Amino acid sequence: MKLFDVYPLYDVEPVSAQDCLVVDKNGVEYLDLYGGHAVISIGHTHPHYVHTLKTQLDKIGFYSNAVQNSLQQKLATKLGVQSGCEDYDVFLCSSGAEANENALKLASFHTRKSRVIAFDNGFHGRTSAAVAATDNPKINAPLNQQQEVTFLPLNDIEAVETELSIGDVCAVIIEPIQGVGGLDQGTTEFFQELEKACNQYDAVLILDEVQSGFGRSGKFFAYQYHGITPDIISIAKGMGNGFPVGGILIAPHIEASYGLLGTTFGGNHLACAATTAVLDVLEKEDLITNAKLTGDYFISEAANLSGVKQVKGRGLMLGIEFDFEVGELRKKLIYDYHIFTGGSKNKNLLRILPPLTAGKEEVDRLIKALRELLDKK
Ligand SMILES: Cc1ncc(COP(=O)(O)O)c(C=O)c1O
Repeated sequence: MKLFDVYPLYDVEPVSAQDCLVVDKNGVEYLDLYGGHAVISIGHTHPHYVHTLKTQLDKIGFYSNAVQNSLQQKLATKLGVQSGCEDYDVFLCSSGAEANENALKLASFHTRKSRVIAFDNGFHGRTSAAVAATDNPKINAPLNQQQEVTFLPLNDIEAVETELSIGDVCAVIIEPIQGVGGLDQGTTEFFQELEKACNQYDAVLILDEVQSGFGRSGKFFAYQYHGITPDIISIAKGMGNGFPVGGILIAPHIEASYGLLGTTFGGNHLACAATTAVLDVLEKEDLITNAKLTGDYFISEAANLSGVKQVKGRGLMLGIEFDFEVGELRKKLIYDYHIFTGGSKNKNLLRILPPLTAGKEEVDRLIKALRELLDKK
């Protein structure tokens, strides 16, 4: 059997990693400023994380959601306190797309309506409703196109109000900072008006924090920059530092009932251990403050590079938009400078998503490499 060939691959095979460094099978060390697509939050193979998972695996790794698992409540309590969302409930699943799928489904159950509003350049995953709410026709199969989704421009509150006033919208789904789409964000005024309009027209406001959450933006959740209270918050990626976990936080006015949502793997013992360990380290090492400080330093340094149009994002969810396409630059960074970075739908944008432990030293190494490469252009 061979692998279904859907991923264009760089010719690098990581076999070990520690904190912000990844080592390939030839012993070459790389600086990871991509975090395996914003997944590595507390650093690769963090000793507390490894110890917690190994200890849990020695006891029990998995049992289904048909029996008690007190690790889930322990995690929920800790997540509530650290995120400032103590009055929300949590439903645990295993990926970002699954989180958004459940968020959209729950919004539809709750309102008994079915149309969704999403935004230009948004990305929410590849399952049925999540991919339909993703602005990329190439990954939206005819099956998914049956969903009723209206795409609107970011920051156009009048367009949102016009659509909501029709009365058939169950949910508005939005990333507080767009990831795959290229780091654009709504203004605070837009988010606040959006919340009001959703309340007025009985639509559920879903904040997709799959990429921006768990401290990456410099706050626990990026929507917290805007003083709003979402109805549902989707989480995944950094939540498990590489262990596949996801979830949704659900505001108290949305009621649960037996069987409404469900999953085999969500909230299993290993997943809870991984997420609890991530929360322990975020708190103990004050990584959210570090993300903010390192991000601010990065923004000030990157702004002076030649060919830069704009430095975008917050915390350690960052992008440098150049006045040229960055594909070749990324290749040179990997093969010549041994630095992993990310791309985006915007071909001119270099994405930076390192572990939240990254500091001045890691930023300086990238800036130095970029200066050399840009001087040669
Ligand atoms: C904002 C956002 N939502 C959802 C997803 C989908 O997550 P997953 O790949 O875990 O299904 C992603 C993945 O990149 C994302 O960036």
